[in-house]
Amino acid sequence: MNSISLVCFLLWTGVSSFEFEELTQYVKSHEDEFIETLRKWVAVESDSSDVAKRPDLHRMMDMTAEKLRLIGGTVQMIDVGTQAFPNGSTIALPKVVTAQFGSDPSKHTVCVYGHVDVQPAKKEDGWATEPYELTDIDGNLYGRGASDNKAPVLAWIHTVEVYKALNISLPVNVKFIIEGMEETGSNGLDDMIEAQKDKFFSDVDYIIISDCVWLSKRPALTYGTRGNCYFFAQVEGPKKDLHSGVYGGTVIEPMTDLIGILDKLISPSGEILIPGIREAVAHLSDEEWKMYQDIEFDMESYKKDIGMDKLMYSNKVDLLAHRWRHPTVSIHGIEGAFSSTGTKTVIPAKVIAKFSIRQVPKMDPATVEKQVTEYLRSVFAKRKSPNKLNVSMVIGAKPWLADPTHPLFEAGKAAVKRVFDTEPDLIREGGTIPIARTFQDVIGKSIIMLPIGGFDDGLHSQNEKISRYNYIEGTKLFIAYLNEVSQIKKY
Ligand SMILES: *[C@@H]1O[C@H](CO)[C@@H](O)[C@H](O)[C@H]1NC(C)=O
Ligand SMILES: *[C@@H]1O[C@H](CO)[C@@H](O)[C@H](O)[C@H]1NC(C)=O
Ligand SMILES: *[C@@H]1O[C@H](CO)[C@@H](O)[C@H](O)[C@H]1NC(C)=O
Ligand SMILES: [Zn+2]
Repeated sequence: MNSISLVCFLLWTGVSSFEFEELTQYVKSHEDEFIETLRKWVAVESDSSDVAKRPDLHRMMDMTAEKLRLIGGTVQMIDVGTQAFPNGSTIALPKVVTAQFGSDPSKHTVCVYGHVDVQPAKKEDGWATEPYELTDIDGNLYGRGASDNKAPVLAWIHTVEVYKALNISLPVNVKFIIEGMEETGSNGLDDMIEAQKDKFFSDVDYIIISDCVWLSKRPALTYGTRGNCYFFAQVEGPKKDLHSGVYGGTVIEPMTDLIGILDKLISPSGEILIPGIREAVAHLSDEEWKMYQDIEFDMESYKKDIGMDKLMYSNKVDLLAHRWRHPTVSIHGIEGAFSSTGTKTVIPAKVIAKFSIRQVPKMDPATVEKQVTEYLRSVFAKRKSPNKLNVSMVIGAKPWLADPTHPLFEAGKAAVKRVFDTEPDLIREGGTIPIARTFQDVIGKSIIMLPIGGFDDGLHSQNEKISRYNYIEGTKLFIAYLNEVSQIKKY
C-alpha cells in the first residue's frame, strides 16, 4: 500500500488499524485477568428468583458498580423500590446500576443494557461441575450466568477498560444500565426508564443489548424478538372435588370442558385456530426468504439437540420462520389437576390451564387478549356446559423488530467482518426480551442486539457456559463495534 492509499484506508476505516491492533493486543494479553473477573462474578449466587439469595444479589450490584467506578465511570445506583409478595410482605429490589463514560456532544452516545442476576442452579439439577465455580473444560467456561449475562456485561466493561488503559479516547460516549431482576421480569425497570427518560437517557442515541446468542458457529446480529401473551383459563364446576366412582357420569366435568376448549387453540399441524391471529402475520417477503435461506443452520443438529426425529416443518426457511416470525400457542400446564404419580380417582372441581401465545409484530397484546377471550368463550358456549369459564391474560409483553439495514446493523456487519472475517447471520429470537420494546417505546431510540454467546451455551439450563473464544473475541467485537458506530453520520 502506498502512502496515499494508506491515508485513504485510514480515513475510510475511521480509526487507524494500528489502534485496533493495539486495543485487541491488550485484550489478548489480559485474557487470563478477564477470565478471573468472570470467575469472581460467577461465584456470586445472584439468583433473582430466590428471596434467600437477595443479599448476594445486592452484593452483585455493588460489585458491578465498583468495577465501573474503578475504570473511571460516573456511577449511580438507582433505587427502584420494593417487591411485594402475595402474603403481603415486601423486600428491597436490587438497585439498578448506571454509569457514564464521556459526555462529548460531538460524539454519539450509546447505552449498553445488561443484567447480572441469574437463573437458579444446583449441582443436583444435573450439573457436571459446581454451577457457581467457573470451570474451564476444553476452552469452555462453565458456570451459572457465564453466558446469560455476566460475560457479555464484562466484555462491554472490559471494552471501555481497554480504551482507558491505553489512554485512547473512546470513539463514542458510553453509558451502562445494568439491572438485577431480568430473570424474574425486570421488576421496577420500566418505571425507572420512564423516570430517567429525560435525565439519564436524554443524550442516548442508541441502545445495545447483548443478552442473546448466535444461531450457529457464525456470529449473528439479532433484529427481532417475539412477544408473549400469557393466559389463565379457569373452568369451575362443583363446589368441591368429587369421587369419580360415586359422582362420575352424573356431572359435567370441568377438566373435560377445559381440555375440550384447549384442543381448539391449535391444530395438530400447528395452525392457530383463533380467528384473527394468523391474519395479523406479515407476509414473508422474497428478501426475507433469501435472508433465511442464507442463514447457517443445521436442521439435523437442531433435531438431535431436542431429541426429535420429526419437526413441524422439514425445511430450514419454514422452520426458522415459525421459530421467529410466526406466532405460536404453547400449553404449559393445568393447575388443580391431579398431578403426582398414582391412581387417584378424583374429579377436580376447579382447573386452570396455563397457555401462552408468542406473538409477532402487528399483534397487539390487547387485541390478542380480546381475540383469545372471545374465541374461547364461543367455543365453550357450544358445549352448553353449566360450568363457569374465566379467561384472563396475565402477561402481555410486546414483540420487537428492527430494520436490519439500519446503520446500527451496518456497523455490526462491519465489526463482525473486521474481527471474524465473515458476514454475520441476521437472526431473530423466538423468545421475548421485553426490555427492548420498552426502550423503543419510551426512549424512542434505535436498538441493536449484538450477541457474543454461542448457540450451545445452554442459557437457563444445566451446564451453562461461554467459550473462552466467544468471551475474548466478543470483547474485540465490541471494541470494533464502538469504532463503527462512531462512523455513523450524525443527523
Ligand atoms: C412471604 O413470602 C415471602 C416469599 O415467598 C417469604 O420470603 C416470606 O418469608 C413470607 N413472609 C411471611 C410473613 O410469611
Ligand atoms: C493521555 O492522552 C492525552 C491526550 O489524548 C494526553 O494529554 C495525556 O498526557 C495522556 N496521558 C497519559 C497518562 O499518557
Ligand atoms: C377471573 O380470573 C382472574 C385471574 O385469573 C381473577 O382475577 C378474576 O377475579 C376472575 N374472575 C371471576 C369472575 O372469577
Ligand atoms: Zn439474560
